[in-house]
Amino acid sequence: MSRPAAVRRLVVAAASRHGSTREIADRIATTLAVELPVPWSVVREDLTDLRVLDDADVVVLGSAIYYGHWMRQGARALEFLRDTVPLRLWLFSSGPISEEETENAQVISADAMADLGEADGHMVFGGNLRTADLGVVERIVARALHVLPGDHRDWSQVDAWAEHIAEELRSRVA
Ligand SMILES: Cc1cc2nc3c(=O)[nH]c(=O)nc-3n(C[C@H](O)[C@H](O)[C@H](O)COP(=O)(O)O)c2cc1C
Repeated sequence: MSRPAAVRRLVVAAASRHGSTREIADRIATTLAVELPVPWSVVREDLTDLRVLDDADVVVLGSAIYYGHWMRQGARALEFLRDTVPLRLWLFSSGPISEEETENAQVISADAMADLGEADGHMVFGGNLRTADLGVVERIVARALHVLPGDHRDWSQVDAWAEHIAEELRSRVA
């Protein structure tokens, strides 16, 4: 659908298996919609059809981390954005919930898909592991990876990051 040329389209999207990363994307989109005045249009999309990224001026893309990597849907979207380059791109990952700092660092550096050189920023948020939602294999893997059950998302951190993005866009994108 066509839109007035002056409208700036910002797309927030995330790959999520059990919904926790989706909720982070929802929260980021809500904050950005409040913080960014017209001509910005903040749109929350899912990643089933990557064409939603086609005419985005700015993309905020996230993924849950499983087995040390972005989910396939998130990785595919990032690959897509290498051809359809938006003006600005921010990335976030959600998952590291180990108490061990060294393990968290390992997970973050293992995330090869979040290529920092090609993005304006990459943020890593705590994750949420609801054991009751997991299948038998997932439970075993999560235990082996020392993934701690519980909700480790810090909403004030999420809000602060979204506000930082809004500030960048207000000041740097005319
Ligand atoms: C089977 C399994 C594997 C996981 N692997 C990792 C991992 O390698 N690194 C990590 O930091 N978190 C890992 N996690 C934690 C998830 O990333 C975390 O629970 C996240 O919040 C899930 O997001 P979602 O609800 O959007 O799917 C794993 C969780 C499960 C169940």
